[in-house]
Amino acid sequence: MSSSQNNHPETIPNQPKHVGIIMDGNGRWAKIRGKRRIFGHEAGVLKARELVETAVKIKLEALTLYAFSSENWSRPKKEVSGLMSLFEKTIEKYTSLLIDNNVRFKTAGDPSTLPDVLKRKLEQMESITSENSGLKLTLAIAYGGQQEIINGIKKLIDDHDNQIIDVNDLTVESFNEYLSFNDLPELDLIIRTSGETRLSNFMLWQSAYSEIHFTETLWPNFEEQEFLEILQTYSLSERRFGNVDEDTELKEA
Ligand code: IPE
Ligand code: IPE
Ligand code: MG
Repeated sequence: MSSSQNNHPETIPNQPKHVGIIMDGNGRWAKIRGKRRIFGHEAGVLKARELVETAVKIKLEALTLYAFSSENWSRPKKEVSGLMSLFEKTIEKYTSLLIDNNVRFKTAGDPSTLPDVLKRKLEQMESITSENSGLKLTLAIAYGGQQEIINGIKKLIDDHDNQIIDVNDLTVESFNEYLSFNDLPELDLIIRTSGETRLSNFMLWQSAYSEIHFTETLWPNFEEQEFLEILQTYSLSERRFGNVDEDTELKEA
């Protein structure tokens, strides 16, 4: 039996260390069923829970879920407030699940834009799980990749003004320290559901060498089996990071 058919999948050889998911398609999923968009978001939360459990089972090192972008604030007020209260309920409901599974939870994004109650609950979840040594789960919420880079530059300018960093010492690695996700392994793989083939401001700096997998599946329909198949395909892919395959010259000769 292949691991994708197994109810208890094992770690896949050469599986990615860090996977980011752009969980898209909740609204369309609800529309097909003649329901309101929030119904799709609720189904999306259940799916996120399922995939977190899979990630724990296969011992993925890091999973980052894109839940709400900086640009999503421009959606109708009712949808935004529905999402905010759904996030609050979700945090409450799943805190013990994360603790029981040894998950370390963090957020990325601009917390100052979030409602106070939600912000507090997210902070609590971060601090309760901070010593956990299992899956590193990051929720990108009120997050935008361009905003993250601008914030990093502001911090860098502060450090420069305080003579903490010399501009000549700035490298890709040292700039990374001014950004989010800097305690996580490199972002190996991005998955976007719902057939859209864009990044929509997700992890722009960190995606420089990520593999990107687009699937037509709407997020609430995204099954564990498809996730495992994508990870398996990744594990067989050859990432060259700008270099050439060692055998290329021999083959060409
Ligand atoms: C993604 O689903 C969830 C959020 C952005 C919060 P959408 O709400 O974008 O669903 P579609 O793209 O309209 O189907
Ligand atoms: C991206 O989805 C954001 C999240 C999944 C949280 P959107 O549905 O907001 O992106 P666009 O509008 O299609 O680019
Ligand atoms: Mg969408």
